[in-house]
Amino acid sequence: MSLIIRGGTVVNADRAFRADVLCDGDRIVAVGDSLEAPAGAQVIDASGQYVMPGGIDPHTHMNLPFMGTVTADDFFTGTAAGLAGGTTTIIDFVIPNPQQPLLEAYHQWRGWAAKAAGDYTFHVAITWWSDRVHEEMGVLVRDHGVNSFKHFMAYKNAIMADDETLVKSFRRSLELGAIPTVHAENGELVYQLQRDLLARGITGPSAHPLSRPPAVEAEAANRAIAIAGVLETPLYIVHVSCKESLDAITRARAAGQRVYGEALAGHLIIDDSVYQNPDFDFAAGHVMSPPFRSKEHQRALWQGLRGGNLHTTATDHCTFCAEQKAAGRDDFTKIPNGCGGVEDRMAVIWDEGVNSGLLTPSEFVKVTSANAAQIFNIYPRKGVVQAGADADVVVWDPAGTRTISAKTQFAKGGFNVFEGRTVKGIPSTTVAAGKVVFHRGELMAVEGAGRHVDRPAFKPVSAS
Ligand code: URP
Ligand code: ZN
Ligand code: ZN
Ligand code: ZN
Repeated sequence: MSLIIRGGTVVNADRAFRADVLCDGDRIVAVGDSLEAPAGAQVIDASGQYVMPGGIDPHTHMNLPFMGTVTADDFFTGTAAGLAGGTTTIIDFVIPNPQQPLLEAYHQWRGWAAKAAGDYTFHVAITWWSDRVHEEMGVLVRDHGVNSFKHFMAYKNAIMADDETLVKSFRRSLELGAIPTVHAENGELVYQLQRDLLARGITGPSAHPLSRPPAVEAEAANRAIAIAGVLETPLYIVHVSCKESLDAITRARAAGQRVYGEALAGHLIIDDSVYQNPDFDFAAGHVMSPPFRSKEHQRALWQGLRGGNLHTTATDHCTFCAEQKAAGRDDFTKIPNGCGGVEDRMAVIWDEGVNSGLLTPSEFVKVTSANAAQIFNIYPRKGVVQAGADADVVVWDPAGTRTISAKTQFAKGGFNVFEGRTVKGIPSTTVAAGKVVFHRGELMAVEGAGRHVDRPAFKPVSAS
């Protein structure tokens, strides 16, 4: 099956230019002026529109068992929602229970992901340490297309990695040619601050940000950067939410360390006033970690993105419905942490970033796909519109508008942190693996059509 996207402006990370894009099967086969299409090719008119690489969301949690429940979106509904928003690939997380073998967890997640409608690949979390973990990290890199390992420095008494685990796992990652990543929050401090707040009778969602102030995040970011610096490993810090963490990244990079930072669409746009809302469902709907911050931190994150010290944008898509959030009605520490966004990331970042002049369209491509593809080693298969790349393309209508609402979204959970926001600049068509999966509001996602994307190690992998 051939498909041609005619008359648009192709936007890649390095430049924008007028060109047609011809796809054959699941590949882009030509990008150029006035291309000839085979007879019978499907034609998409992109005149007046941009043609960009499909978005890569490097941080999602579909079907995640977490805090006593399981996220509302599974791999089908979550990836389908992504396709509706122009995101064609997600990087999700295998999170073994402490003591669970990594490979067992990995295969569990691969089973859940088989129903995905869009492409997917996995970071694997290191939640405990043993010789077996050391060995299975090698198997994952060698045989299962994993090149990144995640470490939660928060969530004490659950999945938190202590310093011994961080050091041993970072060192093993380096040996394997994989990149360590961290959720940077000091889990011990969070735990103690939570206990203090509960003891003072402060039990509602407004306590959530008080238990996780910026310094708690910055301590962990600095610690992870120091460990990576000593061991000479690269480091990717997920959901950087505050100026202090960004400053730590900026300093490390200026000193020659290879440290990457991720910003969440939510952290860029939503501020911490949401936690003061007296409506429990509303405030709890925004409970995620790290929490939303003040506008001052948001400004810093935008500057970090533009200035090149933050590299990717993600969502941490992790949806829970009101009934699930209600588990923490009397104790904010029991509110399942997480918010959605996979459907809205591209549009809200375009609207706030490109329409305001903060980002150019090419910078938008960098932070929504190309940088993630490069950092996680799937470039140029993903993250660029060029011959030989996967036919994952979003046709972007800069004049199109949409008012975001949980009532009309494809994602589950019945809540949207961007509720009521009207965005200008939306996908008109999403092409995934050469097939039109979304067109002008109509979603044609197919359960099971997504493919696992193997991510090669950053160096040849030895046998041990
Ligand atoms: O609150 C969040 N972010 N939930 C998902 C798990 C994580 O920490 O990324
Ligand atoms: Zn296996
Ligand atoms: Zn996290
Ligand atoms: Zn997460």
